[in-house]
Amino acid sequence: MSTFHAPNISVMISAEELQQRISQLGAEITKDYQGKDLIVVGILNGCFIFLADLVREIDLPIITDFMGLSSYGASTKSSGIVQITKDLSMTIEDKHLLIVEDIIDTGLTMSYLLENLDTRRPASVKICSLLSKPMKHKVSVPIEYLGFEIEDKFVVGYGLDFDGRYRNLPYIGLVTGIE
Ligand code: IMP
Ligand code: MG
Repeated sequence: MSTFHAPNISVMISAEELQQRISQLGAEITKDYQGKDLIVVGILNGCFIFLADLVREIDLPIITDFMGLSSYGASTKSSGIVQITKDLSMTIEDKHLLIVEDIIDTGLTMSYLLENLDTRRPASVKICSLLSKPMKHKVSVPIEYLGFEIEDKFVVGYGLDFDGRYRNLPYIGLVTGIE
C-alpha cells in the first residue's frame, strides 16, 4: 500500500453555518413544492451527507432516489467525461425532480445529467447544490437552490472527497498543499 500524504485542511464553512443554510433551503423547497409530487434525486457519492440533512428539513411526503455519476479520476481537475455508475430505480415521466448535488464546478456533470434526464420527460427538473464555484463554470447551469458560492479552491468534507478521503469531516474544509 502506498503512503498517504495528508494535505493541510482548514475550516471554510463550519458545521453550524451549514446547518443554518440547509434549514433555510429546506423551508424554501417545502414552500415551492406544496401540493406537488416531488422526487429528490441525490447524486452519489458526494451528496450523501448534504442530502441526509436536507431531506429532514423538507416537510413534504417526498420520494428519495439516487444516481451515481462519476466525472473525476483520482485528480482534482474535472475531465468532463461523465459515467453513470448507478441509474435511478424508477421511471420519472411527469414527475417533479429535484437534483441534489454537492458542488457545481465546471458544470459539465450537471449539464450532461440534465440532457440525459430530459429524454425521460419529467414534469420539471431543478437543481439544489450545496456549493458552486462560479469562476470555474464552463457551461451555464441553472441552480435553483444554492447553499454557498465559493472561490476557485479545492474543498473537502461534508460529503466531498480528495481521492476518496475526508467525506466524513463535519465541515467544509479548504485543502492546501496539493498542487
Ligand atoms: P463538474 O462536472 O466540474 O461540475 O464537477 C462536479 C463534480 O466534481 C462534483 O460533483 C464533485 O464530485 C467534484 N468536485 C468539483 N470540485 C470539487 C472540490 O473542490 N472538492 C471535491 N470534489 C469536487
Ligand atoms: Mg459529485
